Amino acid sequence: MQRTVLLSLSLASLAACASAFAPAFAQSAAGQPDPFKPVYVVTSRQTHDAGLSTLARNATARIGVTGAPLMVSELKAHELTDLSRHVHEKERRCGGYFAFDTRAEAEAFMRNDRSVQAMNIAFADYAIDNQATVAPWLSQVKEANILASIKAMSTNWPNRYAGSSYGRKAALWVRDRWAELGAGRSDVSTELFTACSNCGQQPSVILTIRGNERPDEVVVLGAHLDSISNSGSGEFMRAPGADDDASGIATLTEVLRIALSSGYKPQRTIKVMGYAAEEVGLRGSNAIANDFKSRGVNVVGVLQLDMTNYRTATAPDVRVISDYSNANLQKLLRDLFSTYLGGSMRLGDYTCSYGCSDHASWTSAGYPAAMYFEGGNASGQYLQQVHTANDTLATVGQSATASVPFAKLGLAFLGEVGKTSAN
Ligand code: BES
Ligand code: ZN
Repeated sequence: MQRTVLLSLSLASLAACASAFAPAFAQSAAGQPDPFKPVYVVTSRQTHDAGLSTLARNATARIGVTGAPLMVSELKAHELTDLSRHVHEKERRCGGYFAFDTRAEAEAFMRNDRSVQAMNIAFADYAIDNQATVAPWLSQVKEANILASIKAMSTNWPNRYAGSSYGRKAALWVRDRWAELGAGRSDVSTELFTACSNCGQQPSVILTIRGNERPDEVVVLGAHLDSISNSGSGEFMRAPGADDDASGIATLTEVLRIALSSGYKPQRTIKVMGYAAEEVGLRGSNAIANDFKSRGVNVVGVLQLDMTNYRTATAPDVRVISDYSNANLQKLLRDLFSTYLGGSMRLGDYTCSYGCSDHASWTSAGYPAAMYFEGGNASGQYLQQVHTANDTLATVGQSATASVPFAKLGLAFLGEVGKTSAN
């Protein structure tokens, strides 16, 4: 199913909204993007009325699983950009919508969306009782390692855009780094996930540590590989994406280094993921979450790290995203913070109001997911240079200090949800 998730608020400039809205990888038979291809969009009634009513054909009113009034309507592919502009001008925000190749897929999406269950159901009991494994890991987190990974990710290529050749090169580079960390262990494997029809040439990367006691129960820690910006396009886009989201990949890389060098053998199977094509509609994570759902994989918890490296004095150290995520898992994220960081560190929360990162793909597929997010500044703002050529390490003072607590929390999540095998 080709599903394009496009939901944005104040985050991006119109240019960055529009680049996300471009049907980036939709090709006609001739290999060129087909602007007249029909697309079927699911929007809120409000978005329809503000920006769609003059463009849309065959609009049908529906009630979503949350009870919200929705519309399904037909557009030509090139009109997606107009929709984005209308909504931006009339609603003062980027327009949120889900786009599909067929009306049947749009209708099926509304029927199958499992977000409500995924946010509320108690999937697992998330006890915190593995201090023996977690505590010795925490002091091993090295800011210099995280800094070096962010530096490489944000400067080795002009961008990591899913539709450019660099998007693929960056993914292979991450695969190679993670494979080095898992080298020599027969229970650790690193692979590319390529079964995504709309991720361009960019694969997702998955490192698996096979569970030694409960291998069918899967724990996921993820971040997105790709970047995007409003500066240039395609191969010429300048999108360093240091905070968004090289920081998340770098943090997970440090988590892996410490856990694997300690010889950690989990009870449950661990999967660390670098997602493709998040910035163009959560495409890589959607492909993976739907694949897992169709194969009946039992995922007991998903942690997303997207933007960990911007914090100024007086801001919280870490925030928990409050929406599109599972209530029990949000509580676990808070409890892990107080158990393992506590002390003088401060925890806040942040509401996206839309499915702003890959946790929403898992939620929508019915799995329990939650996300830690950077503290930002004293006004609660996240790094304002995201999606520009200035999302660089220079902008945050060549430091990865802000990411250090996230690596500790990633280790805590790993040890407490994955548990430690007794043999
Ligand atoms: N890292 C952002 C998400 C984000 C930004 C979360 C600011 C919280 C605060 C992510 O990479 C992103 O840009 N997401 C898109 C949505 C996606 C469906 C295309 C966005 O927010 O516009
Ligand atoms: Zn991001």
